[in-house]
Amino acid sequence: MTNLRLIVSGYGRVGRALVRLLLEKGEAVARRHGLELPLAAVVDVDGAAVASGAAGLPLGQIAAGLPPGKGPSTLETWGEPSVTTSVLVERGLADVLVETTPTDLQTGEPGLGHLRAALSHGLHVVTATKGPLVLRFGELNRLAERNGVALKYSAATAAALPALDLGVYCLAGAEIERIEGVLNGTTNFILTRMRRLEETYQEALAEAQRLGIAEADPRLDVGGWDTASKLVLIANGLLGVALTLDQVQVSGIEGVTLDQIRGAAAAGVVPRLLAVAVRDGGAVRASVGVEHLAPDHPLAAVDGAEKGITYFTDTMDRVTVAGGKSDPRGAAAALLKDLINLARERGVKG
Ligand SMILES: NC(=O)c1ccc[n+]([C@@H]2O[C@H](COP(=O)([O-])OP(=O)(O)OC[C@H]3O[C@@H](n4cnc5c(N)ncnc54)[C@H](OP(=O)(O)O)[C@@H]3O)[C@@H](O)[C@H]2O)c1
Repeated sequence: MTNLRLIVSGYGRVGRALVRLLLEKGEAVARRHGLELPLAAVVDVDGAAVASGAAGLPLGQIAAGLPPGKGPSTLETWGEPSVTTSVLVERGLADVLVETTPTDLQTGEPGLGHLRAALSHGLHVVTATKGPLVLRFGELNRLAERNGVALKYSAATAAALPALDLGVYCLAGAEIERIEGVLNGTTNFILTRMRRLEETYQEALAEAQRLGIAEADPRLDVGGWDTASKLVLIANGLLGVALTLDQVQVSGIEGVTLDQIRGAAAAGVVPRLLAVAVRDGGAVRASVGVEHLAPDHPLAAVDGAEKGITYFTDTMDRVTVAGGKSDPRGAAAALLKDLINLARERGVKG
């Protein structure tokens, strides 16, 4: 049996969903994959709950005993107020840091400090947080390589949509010449409602917020920055470049009018917020903006809050994957997938 002890850093929507998923699927993962994932610690901004033994924290009590608003450090038996993720990774109690703190595209913090600490102390990293990798992709990958550990980030590239893994595993050996993606569920939901229900941008955004699809502050999504961040991670991971966010030409969907949507419908084309990365000599040109797709384009069929990505290759032609849940459970499922693949690839024995 392989044993990977986890520190889950950040106990918000994704962190909580992951603990519930470990509880729900722990037995099946052990049976099918020979993998045990004991929870050594779970950390939020006020401190942590830290396991006292190798069996890890009791997942049922953690999941049931911590309603929203109550952090892990408040748990009587395991609570350790004020301790941070970076301090915990130095204690040698875990093999993997699972990072689920908020994404900050300006500083990368707090995730950047956590990832640096974990990789330098020989922990593998599995992250849903985009900021550190968008800003320090090369540095963090070099750090992982120097320390002989894995850095996995498929949950940061489009949650449950296997955008990155399709390129890494299924297109191995092919040259990816162009990438096109609908990588943000919120903006796709808004554009779909504008097209199908003739709602204005504001009406469709309000509905997305009411359903919990859009954040109260939707600027990262509607401005195209969430899409651009995912594109940077996918392009850097698959095309071997060092693209930065400021090299991506980004425009969002805030300016899209109902008249433009009606015009597109009359012309028989489908508006999508499209991420595009194209090889250009040794470099890559990247952009995010509203594009009008022909109805037979595979991404024209990706409706509502769904996402999709198409790779154009030299040997395998055009390959598309679409769907995948765009919510905390979907992101947690992508983290679990990365943990299973990490154990498979590294053959870590408990
Ligand atoms: N939600 C999704 O569907 C989804 C999908 C894919 C990727 N992601 C990414 O996954 C990450 C988590 O998303 P989320 O929706 O779970 O966000 P969230 O609900 O805001 O959770 C983040 C958690 O991290 C905690 N935190 C903040 N600073 C911390 C620190 N220094 N140390 C430890 N914990 C800290 C926060 O505590 P406070 O609230 O007390 O500050 C909060 O509990 C984000 O980076 C997001 O971009 C999310």
